[in-house]
Amino acid sequence: MSVKLPLMCQAQTIYLCMGSACHQRRGYDLLPLLEALVCCHGLEGRVQLKGTFCLEACQQGRSLKFGDRVFTGVDEQSLGGIFEREILPHCRPD
Ligand code: FES
Repeated sequence: MSVKLPLMCQAQTIYLCMGSACHQRRGYDLLPLLEALVCCHGLEGRVQLKGTFCLEACQQGRSLKFGDRVFTGVDEQSLGGIFEREILPHCRPD
């Protein structure tokens, strides 16, 4: 006899670059903004935030990675748009 288990919700991960170039550009300032976006959209438990080593885009400004995509030149003004266009559609409840 087999028992069908409910599908587990797999958390998606946003990786914020903590490499030295992004650190010098205060990439860590994006973390509370990302936390706020995750919270505002009710995605706690569906999206996790992690730091990562260099994403090899140092010349292009602060970087973050989601899935297999790296977003570069991320600043406080562009972060919300990137989140809503590129991340949020992949994280909504099924
Ligand atoms: S340190 Fe962030 S891309 Fe290299």
